[in-house]
Amino acid sequence: MRRKMVAGNWKMNGTASSLTELGNLAYSCKSAKAEVLICPPATLLYRAANVCTDSKVEVGAQDCHSATYGAHTGDLSAEMLHDAGATAVILGHSERRADHGETDQVVRAKAKTAITAGLTAIICVGETLADREAGKTLAVVGAQLASSLPDDTRGTTVVVAYEPVWAIGTGKVPTVEQIAEVHNDLRASLVKRFGGETANAIRLLYGGSVKASNAKEIFAVAQVDGALVGGASLKAADFAPIVAAL
Ligand code: G3H
Repeated sequence: MRRKMVAGNWKMNGTASSLTELGNLAYSCKSAKAEVLICPPATLLYRAANVCTDSKVEVGAQDCHSATYGAHTGDLSAEMLHDAGATAVILGHSERRADHGETDQVVRAKAKTAITAGLTAIICVGETLADREAGKTLAVVGAQLASSLPDDTRGTTVVVAYEPVWAIGTGKVPTVEQIAEVHNDLRASLVKRFGGETANAIRLLYGGSVKASNAKEIFAVAQVDGALVGGASLKAADFAPIVAAL
């Protein structure tokens, strides 16, 4: 049985004053049944982890370097993030793929390092609007999945987040049928590659304009094990009802 998960990605938002909101969120989630993760900017990671001590909320990072240490000015290693209190890291988010030219191969290398450092790798895949309109959704997402996950993936070390690029921050959400189609395909690909035991332990999150008002409907889709939430994770009042919907 896969444990449900709701992860919040603060992206490039948040300063020290946001930690009060995080404290509110930790309090609101004190009875959460799902695993709850908040990924603040790296500048807040250590303090966020302290705020969440003894709560149900864990903290994660939004990226890491593929190397363990060295001459990489401005970058952070998975080990450093783990040391700062992170338990997971988001990798291959479409904003990083677009803004930093991250390829599937880079994402896979980062995932390997993250897992070795003891972090759960939340690997993002998703099609653009042009891909969807060209009928290429399953091919694009399937190729990203195949190339971004390390061969030695185990069920508990990796989480896959399906995030259609056109649904991120736009208020547009795929139909439940469209979400189901992609999630079923992702699960089938994982079973084919890793076998049933590993594949069925890997959680599949949906991400893209998830809100309290649509969370229940999305969570009811078979093979959806939770959500990766952007904008609605910034305020406890928006995020807590999403967690409660699982
Ligand atoms: O990482 C989160 C996703 O990009 C979703 O963002 O909930 O603001 O659409 P959003």
